[in-house]
Order: sequence, then C-alpha cells, then structure tokens
Amino acid sequence: MKYNFDEIINRRKTYSLKWDGGDLIKEIGYTTRYDEETLPLFTADMDLPVPQPLIDALHRTVEHRIFGYSVCPPAYFQAIQHWFKTRHDWAISAEEIVYCPGTVYALNIAVRAFTEQGDGIIIQRPVYPPFTAAIEGNGRKVINNALQCDTNGYYSIDFDDFEEKAKDGSTKMFILCHPHNPTGRIFTKDELQKLADICVENDVLIIADEIHGDLIRRGQTFIPIAKAVDEVSHIITCTAINKTFNVAGLHCTNLIIPNLRLREKFTETMGMQLPSPFTIAALIAAYNEGEDWLEQLKDYIDDTMEWVKVFIEQRLPLVKVTIPEGTYVMWLDFSGYGLLPEEVHYRIYNKANVLLEDGHLFGEEGLHYQRICISSPRPIIKEALERIVGAFEDIHTAAV
Ligand SMILES: Cc1ncc(COP(=O)(O)O)c(C=O)c1O
Repeated sequence: MKYNFDEIINRRKTYSLKWDGGDLIKEIGYTTRYDEETLPLFTADMDLPVPQPLIDALHRTVEHRIFGYSVCPPAYFQAIQHWFKTRHDWAISAEEIVYCPGTVYALNIAVRAFTEQGDGIIIQRPVYPPFTAAIEGNGRKVINNALQCDTNGYYSIDFDDFEEKAKDGSTKMFILCHPHNPTGRIFTKDELQKLADICVENDVLIIADEIHGDLIRRGQTFIPIAKAVDEVSHIITCTAINKTFNVAGLHCTNLIIPNLRLREKFTETMGMQLPSPFTIAALIAAYNEGEDWLEQLKDYIDDTMEWVKVFIEQRLPLVKVTIPEGTYVMWLDFSGYGLLPEEVHYRIYNKANVLLEDGHLFGEEGLHYQRICISSPRPIIKEALERIVGAFEDIHTAAV
C-alpha cells in the first residue's frame, strides 16, 4: 500500500495535545501565544496517518462493541519478539516483556523502584525534559554527563566524565536516551559497550529509553544496547509502538527486563497494569503488518529533513542545522544571530506563531537551540519555516 504523507489531516477538535491543547500549553509555559493560526511543531507525535492494518484492527475492535478489562494474548508477545528479531536481530523471550502504559511513566516507576531519595542518576543533557522531571520529581539528584558538541554539530560522549560520575557511591542509575532526543545521536556498539562496562563495574543500573529506535535515517544502523553488550542483567530497555507507529494516545510501552529480580521489583512497584483492547489489537497489527508503512515513512522523513536543511541553509543562513542520525526531531542552533534566547523565542512563537520547543528545556546546553519536530506533512513544515524566515527578515535585510 502506498501512503500519502503529504495529505493534511485536520487534527483540531480531536483532543490533540498539539492542535487543541492551547490552554495546557500556555499553562506549562511553552508559549504565551496559541490560537487558531498557531502551527505546533513541538511535542513528538506525527501529523501523519498510521498503517492501514492498524486502523483495520482498531475498527474490528470497535465493532465488537464491548471494551472490558483485557489481557495480552500470546500473539501480543510474539509480535514484539518478531519485530525486534527481524528489525534489530534482537532475540527477546516472552517472559522478559512487561507492559506499561507509557515510557515516561516507566521511567518514574524505575526511579522509585531502584533508587532511594537523594541517590544520583546520570543523564546526558541536552536531553528530553521528562528525564529530569522523573529524577527531581522523585527526590533524586540529576548527575549530568553532558554530551559534547563539536563545530559540526556532532555530539559525543565524555567517557572520563561519565566514569568519574558513575564511580561516585551515590550514583545508582543511568537513564540512556538512544537514539538520543534531541541530538539524534545513535550510539555505536563500542560506545554502548563502554557505557555498559562502566555501569557494571560501578553497580549502576541502566534504563535505556530506545523508543525512537525504529526511526532512523537510511544508511544508519541502530543497535539496541541489550543486543550490543555482553552482559544484560543490569539493563532495562523501554520500547514502544507509541513513537514508531504514531499511537502515543494508545499508551503502549513494553519494557524488556531480562533480570528476574529487577522484573519482579519493577512490576511490584508499578502494580498490575492491563492494556486496553485497542492497544493490544494495535500492537499486534503494527508489529506484524506495519513494516512497509515504516519504510515509506522513513523515506518521507529523510526527504523532509533534506528539504529542511537546504531551506535553512538558504533562507535562515545564521541557523546551524545538521541532519540527525535518528529521531524525527531537528536541533537547530540559533546562536549565530547573537540574540538573547528570549528574543529568538519571541520571534518564533509570538511573531511567526510557530510552536517549537525552547532548547533550555533540555538543559542549559540547549540555551540557544530550538527543537523542531518535522513529522508533519511537508506543506505544514514549509509554511512554518516561511513564517520563521519572515520573523527574522529584518536581520537578514539589514545584513545585506
Ligand atoms: C525519548 C523519549 N522518551 C519518552 C517519550 C514519551 O513516551 P511516552 O509517551 O511513552 O511516555 C518521548 C516522547 O517524545 C521521547 O522522546
């Protein structure tokens, strides 16, 4: 089946956080302007239709007319095993899989289950803001092993710093973001092995958030950390159809926890969670029949990223942009304008009326950056970027 990702599907009045969530978005403080004309390219979901087999599976569920408590059948676990074996050559056994209604929720449960108040947890900023919230909100301490950005916008790990921080007796956990949001880095087998070795040596538990792992550029290879390293008993991996198949609203994360003791502790802390029949049907259809859709989606995202890069180089020449190895977010460096971050924010959010995500939300390393989600039909991305050009026009004109 061929999908038309250029089609603009109106999401207003569908309870969409991006398109209907203005009050909440203002309350959180992302922007002061949000109205009917706002183009929201912030939170990471896609304005693109999901695979047809998934839609068909949901229709069949609706037609049954009863939506009671549900349990995962063997086909649920088999679909997960099939996907990770065929896509990532990663053999998972059914017992290792734990359903959880969300990845951020899972991070919070893991923090509570495996660390104590005051313990240190390593993260690599700039990073997805709920990592910080899960740590600080539960009374734990953020230990930042900041990623290092070179002049080409390429991020790498400071291993000496990582090791020093892991050695501190109060450091108990490392939350890895892989592929890394917002920098898009896909870590190599060597990098993953090195991180894992340091964690084993220092008894630091790894929670690997790998929910962007299917969304990578052509020519890139994503190796799940649990597949890349020798010892997996100290690794918990978060996987999800939420990101891959754009069903965040169905709340479907699956944790892979090979270590029985950790698995029991996690499930005991979380309490029993049952997925909805929609979630179960969606996962089975997506993982068994969603591959051709994903291949087309990846082409579309890759092409959009190429287009965005060229557009920015030509029309917003002071913004530094690179194509990330993975994810559908782009991390734009606005420092070239020499403006205060508040001024950049005002021009984009208030003048252009485009809603992105301010880089400082990802940590102070992101102060001069803006994160854009390009997982929308290209006409929407084009309009958003044209508007942003308009909001910086006076500077460009003055420079000529
Ligand atoms: C790295 C990362 N983890 C988790 C999430 C949210 O996942 P969930 O909706 O399953 O909580 C996101 C969403 O953008 C993300 O980028």
